[in-house]
Amino acid sequence: MAITTANHKKRAVLRVRPGQFVVTPAIEQVAIRALRYLTSGFAVHLRGPAGTGKTTLAMHLANCLERPIMLIFGDDEFKSSDLIGSESGYTHKKLLDNYIHNVVKVENELKQNWVDSRLTLACREGLTLVYDEFNRSRPEVNNVLLSALEEKILTLPPSSNQPEYLHVNPQFRAIFTSNPEEYCGVHSTQDALMDRLITIKMPEPDELTQTEILVQKTGINRGDAKLIVRLVKAFRLSTGGEKTSGLRSCLMISKVCGEHEIRVSPENSDFREICTDVLFNRTNFSVSESTTIFLELLNHLHVNALEESNNDASKDDSLAILKNQ
Ligand SMILES: Nc1ncnc2c1ncn2[C@@H]1O[C@H](COP(=O)(O)OP(=O)(O)OP(=O)(O)O)[C@@H](O)[C@H]1O
Ligand SMILES: [Mg+2]
Repeated sequence: MAITTANHKKRAVLRVRPGQFVVTPAIEQVAIRALRYLTSGFAVHLRGPAGTGKTTLAMHLANCLERPIMLIFGDDEFKSSDLIGSESGYTHKKLLDNYIHNVVKVENELKQNWVDSRLTLACREGLTLVYDEFNRSRPEVNNVLLSALEEKILTLPPSSNQPEYLHVNPQFRAIFTSNPEEYCGVHSTQDALMDRLITIKMPEPDELTQTEILVQKTGINRGDAKLIVRLVKAFRLSTGGEKTSGLRSCLMISKVCGEHEIRVSPENSDFREICTDVLFNRTNFSVSESTTIFLELLNHLHVNALEESNNDASKDDSLAILKNQ
């Protein structure tokens, strides 16, 4: 995802150039569903474990809407003013009128300046708001979204310079992402907000999707990618690591192997070392338990089939890399 910041007055608006967004049947299906809701004017909420591709999909959806994007990351320290804006600084104007030499007229004006924050700007200009991990902000801070999403009115604090109600631009759209509530640092979401969103659960990407992402993002061959995906999945299943997706681990292993020309093979000690470095501290198992499980999994790898896949990537689909799968 390549991002450029538009200059102009919208300092925080993003123009996202389509990067390497990988589309597989599973991803396309979710994207079509979400776009259907967004084009009908509803806010979409992508919810799922870490590393399932929520942020990436949210940015892709926002990009499909072809409007500038306003990106916010949920934060426990957020105040309402971080979402809607605040008075910031003063404009001081002093007029000295000495037109008639023996008369001096002095006019003093002191004006507070209102600065829109990102939500207000998105509502005013009809931008696409991507509120990533919105439940990391405290629930009461997000209350201002309730009327913006339902009544299409944003309430602003009383100020001398601007109306207190802002009618939300009809082109405004919102995409939310969140991790489930059992995650550390996450607040439970108020029911009223959840009721205004269409929530799509994002499971761990399927094997084909993960393999395609590895191939297209790291350039390794399909057989190697499949082996890494299966190895990581088998390890996570054996060590109870279902809380997060294995996609990030797979990407790390495959990127390092690809860039350093490390042969993806259970026999290769460098490959085994990278896998252990990436995988072991992601479980609650001890190092010795993890090592036993990992070595057992490696023993199940069908080495001959793997060598064949390295020689002929086109035969990848018929590979049976892990026995007992
Ligand atoms: N469709 C896709 N195309 C290309 N890369 C993808 C795709 N889906 C996920 N990825 C990659 O997988 C990794 C994890 O994705 P992402 O950051 O979107 O997950 P997430 O669900 O937002 O995780 P978290 O909950 O931890 O924020 C990223 O490196 C991302 O680039
Ligand atoms: Mg994310």
